[in-house]
Amino acid sequence: MMEEKPKFKTVQEVVAANEGLPERYLQPLTDDREDQPLNGPVPEMDIPSIDLSLLLSSSENGRQELSKLHSALSKWGVVQVMNHGITEAFLDKIYKLTKQFFALPTEEKQKYARDIGNVQGYGSDMILSDDQILDWIDRLFLTTYPKDQQHLKFWPEVPTEFRETLHEYTMKQHAVIEQFFKGMARSLDLEDNVFLEMHGDNARMDTRFNMYPPCPRPDMVIGAKPHGDGSATLLLPDKDVEGLQFLKDGKWYKAPIAPDTILINVGDLMEIMSNGIYKSPVHRVVTNREKERISVATFCVPSPDKEIQPVEGLVSDARPRLYKTVKKYVELYFDSYQQGLKPIEAALI
Ligand code: OGA
Ligand code: NI
Repeated sequence: MMEEKPKFKTVQEVVAANEGLPERYLQPLTDDREDQPLNGPVPEMDIPSIDLSLLLSSSENGRQELSKLHSALSKWGVVQVMNHGITEAFLDKIYKLTKQFFALPTEEKQKYARDIGNVQGYGSDMILSDDQILDWIDRLFLTTYPKDQQHLKFWPEVPTEFRETLHEYTMKQHAVIEQFFKGMARSLDLEDNVFLEMHGDNARMDTRFNMYPPCPRPDMVIGAKPHGDGSATLLLPDKDVEGLQFLKDGKWYKAPIAPDTILINVGDLMEIMSNGIYKSPVHRVVTNREKERISVATFCVPSPDKEIQPVEGLVSDARPRLYKTVKKYVELYFDSYQQGLKPIEAALI
């Protein structure tokens, strides 16, 4: 991994210092921007809501959900999932605790500050070069699963319910992802457990709490630069404030706001496993002048010892193998990501 530069202010600290907008956050002007300006209107994407409770049922309804899932993941690489078994009240609690954490005084949050060069903990976008253009985002990043990989020193003790709620959320998400991976396998006519097995016994979950403060120049500054997620992601986008956009055929579309659903994104590694049938969608977050925006993303990371490659059943003469075998992809991923490159391109044959 490239070496990180010394500590830089979080966006919240930049805003509090009231010294104007540092140049390091300004995006260069590109042709792309004239076509679809950063803060311009974008159409909404037409992704379906998948009923998770039906996905593994052998009824006609179940088959319908599987075919909806197949078409949405081939087209967009992301779906909304409903009837996932997590109550709206519980999701509300996650949002509330996230907001409360980021609203704490700087000194309180700094107790959980990440170390330079490490992702775990609270802090700014990781800064790897002097000319890196910064994203308008602060984060709290925590490994949540398995338990023996948790670093509790980074887990907020305030708000008081934060830790126990995150434990509970992790277990609930684990159940969701298991069902979802089985459904994905079924939608490709594969054995239910193929994707679970590819993730391995030491699969990990990392949760990233994202905070995008109000930004004085949404036309010039980006919340999260365009990227594909390294691995499958469960995302709770802000319930009120838009900002998340997905790229398809060179055009940006905004994600719908649907408070009771979870967005599940295929990510690069599942694109590789599915031999490119399911796409890892490129997405970005734009900023908002008046409102802060929060989101909670959980990444499902395969065991580090697992070799990831296209599932055998998805490779044929008609559909040749598209990707090399990769290992520890997520580590390799960070370097490319911060250089604004598409990490998955390195995996293409
Ligand atoms: C991410 C991400 C989207 C959002 O954390 O990888 O894409 O809505 N977040 O904040
Ligand atoms: Ni993402």
